[in-house]
Amino acid sequence: MMNTDRAKTASLTIPVVTVPSHPRWPELSDDQEQALKNRIKQLLKEQDAVLVAHYYTDAKLQELAEETGGCVADSLEMARFGMEHPARTLVVAGVRFMGETSKILNNEKRVVMPDLGATCSLDEGCPADEFSSFCDRYPDHTVVVYANTSAAVKARSDWVVTSGIALPIIKHLAARNEKIIWAPDKHLGGYVQRETGAQMIFWPGSCVVHEEFKSIALQRFRKLHPEAAVLVHPESPEAVIMQADVVGSTTALIRAVQTRPEQTFIVATDKGIFNKMKQLAPAKTLLEAPTEGEGATCQSCARCPWMGMNSLQNLAEVLETGTNEILVSADLARRARIPIQRMIDFSRQLQQG
Ligand code: 13P
Ligand code: SF4
Repeated sequence: MMNTDRAKTASLTIPVVTVPSHPRWPELSDDQEQALKNRIKQLLKEQDAVLVAHYYTDAKLQELAEETGGCVADSLEMARFGMEHPARTLVVAGVRFMGETSKILNNEKRVVMPDLGATCSLDEGCPADEFSSFCDRYPDHTVVVYANTSAAVKARSDWVVTSGIALPIIKHLAARNEKIIWAPDKHLGGYVQRETGAQMIFWPGSCVVHEEFKSIALQRFRKLHPEAAVLVHPESPEAVIMQADVVGSTTALIRAVQTRPEQTFIVATDKGIFNKMKQLAPAKTLLEAPTEGEGATCQSCARCPWMGMNSLQNLAEVLETGTNEILVSADLARRARIPIQRMIDFSRQLQQG
């Protein structure tokens, strides 16, 4: 149960994030696409590189990652995979914080990304200096930040969490009566607080993609599909989360499609995830949760514009030119690694029961 006395949101002015339009890549003929894929495969081999892609990236990149021995995963698993894989270069198809996390955990490896401008509204909406001053106001609080943040914000934190592990970590901290500063996603933070009863103060950030799911339109849509289970990523607004049969990370939502008895699913997260869901559960019907309706601006239409900045074309280019390397200073990496490693160790202990 949510304790409204504790549901404090910091009175802060956060930067207005400019959302780019979803990039349009030139259409390739089948022959051109095959030639490009072959070239990328050759370059990956020559450079002892492995492709690590997020579930939200273009299906062609996901397929290529799997064909070449890389991985398609959520942000936590991407980080783990990069640590365990022997390749000297990690090519991260995702958004900037994912590349930075890979670099922080693998300082000896070269980490490159197809587009260094692929950021995230949560990351952009939480500048390190402002965040640090905010934390200074609550010196007795434990600082927990979502993985969707810069290396500098992570370095100011005690714990990093992803959506896959936020609940058990906050439960663990709440059991120790720790007061928590949570940043930057207010919706995920609110969800975690409602589930755990933890004492939390929020940074008021949000994801421009998930914030667009509409609760009234979803109510109507569910009436049209009463047989469907509703799957919601917890970066969505509370009124959308309240209608979910499953609330979870990208991996948890994919698992739900595979394992739940329903044949039809209404999915409230980035559409890129449909590729993996269809691959693992081809007989199931997947419907997009509505992003339209009253008050809708549909800036993203359930497609993260920053994830869309990754394509076969700029992946080939970055391997050809050797550009777009992610660099994190040794001191910053050392400080940011501590809370990330804490999360990874916690997750390992959790898996071992
Ligand atoms: P995951 O941690 O589930 O991969 O999600 C990352 C993300 O950016 C969701 O919008
Ligand atoms: Fe960030 Fe949202 Fe895009 Fe995820 S979907 S990378 S949280 S803007």
